[in-house]
Amino acid sequence: MQKYEKLEKIGEGTYGTVFKAKNRETHEIVALKRVRLDDDDEGVPSSALREICLLKELKHKNIVRLYDVLHSDKKLTLVFEHCDQDLKKYFDSLNGEIDPDVVKSFMYQLLRGLAFCHSHNVLHRDLKPQNLLINKNGELKLADFGLARAFGIPVKCYSAEVVTLWYRPPDVLFGAKLYTTSIDMWSAGCIFAELANAGRPLFPGSDVDDQLKRIFKLLGTPTESTWPGVTQLPDFKAFPIYHPSMSFSQVVPKLSSKGRDLLQHLLVCNPALRMSADDAMAHQYFSDLSSAIKNDRCQ
Ligand SMILES: Nc1ncnc2c1ncn2[C@@H]1O[C@H](COP(=O)(O)OP(=O)(O)OP(=O)(O)O)[C@@H](O)[C@H]1O
Ligand SMILES: [Mg+2]
Repeated sequence: MQKYEKLEKIGEGTYGTVFKAKNRETHEIVALKRVRLDDDDEGVPSSALREICLLKELKHKNIVRLYDVLHSDKKLTLVFEHCDQDLKKYFDSLNGEIDPDVVKSFMYQLLRGLAFCHSHNVLHRDLKPQNLLINKNGELKLADFGLARAFGIPVKCYSAEVVTLWYRPPDVLFGAKLYTTSIDMWSAGCIFAELANAGRPLFPGSDVDDQLKRIFKLLGTPTESTWPGVTQLPDFKAFPIYHPSMSFSQVVPKLSSKGRDLLQHLLVCNPALRMSADDAMAHQYFSDLSSAIKNDRCQ
């Protein structure tokens, strides 16, 4: 730990506190995340350590780099690449207006980061605007990849705040335990709509029931014919039959018709039918994306 000089506190999240810090030798600015575990007496579980160390190999320009894992005194500190701000704070600075080209660029970078992780069999499972970091030059990077797997999917923050359900797909809300890459694709869809609406969340539910109700009111209530197996999920409960009422042009009025088409392929209740990150990147919506962003070779 002597290697880093702690500067100010940046934020608090599900697993602990984040500080800005400076490497005393190289003067490089980093973000230090002190992880607090539920059961501090037991120290850091070796399974979590193994998972975390694997994440050091996940190197891509749209993923926040994990430089180092410091483990001492039963405490765990993760040393990350530092970014200028997170997407939630960016939204707060917007005053309700966002450039459609910025929406497209951010969405493409989000998908490219996801495609990379998914191709390495790493899921995020807790994507939300606070976990998307951006730099002044327009880069977007995904933070906290793989942490949910290492430490368990978050239910409450260590600060006792309730974790947001807004980006969770209906299969997870119904208690599905078998997670696949589709979990992140739902969250990406919610974030896409939020980007297009300059920071207004798509499904701001207050609890699991309210969350599912909001989803089904927009997309229609799933049935065994639209989603085989849905009634067998551990926490399944019947909801009133809603028919897709509003059109997507009302939900995301500023988004082009191609953008709406992409959004509809991501926001699919049946996880088996949800679009993958690779397919989403190849969608027509991105056909006019600047080649500087598209060909920006990753690594
Ligand atoms: N590498 C980083 N560079 C700059 N700021 C960061 C970095 N990592 C985290 N932050 C900031 O610190 C805040 C808290 O981070 P943290 O990941 O602990 O919590 P969170 O993202 O709100 O929730 P979760 O723990 O579920 O990911 C973030 O929302 C972000 O604003
Ligand atoms: Mg985070």
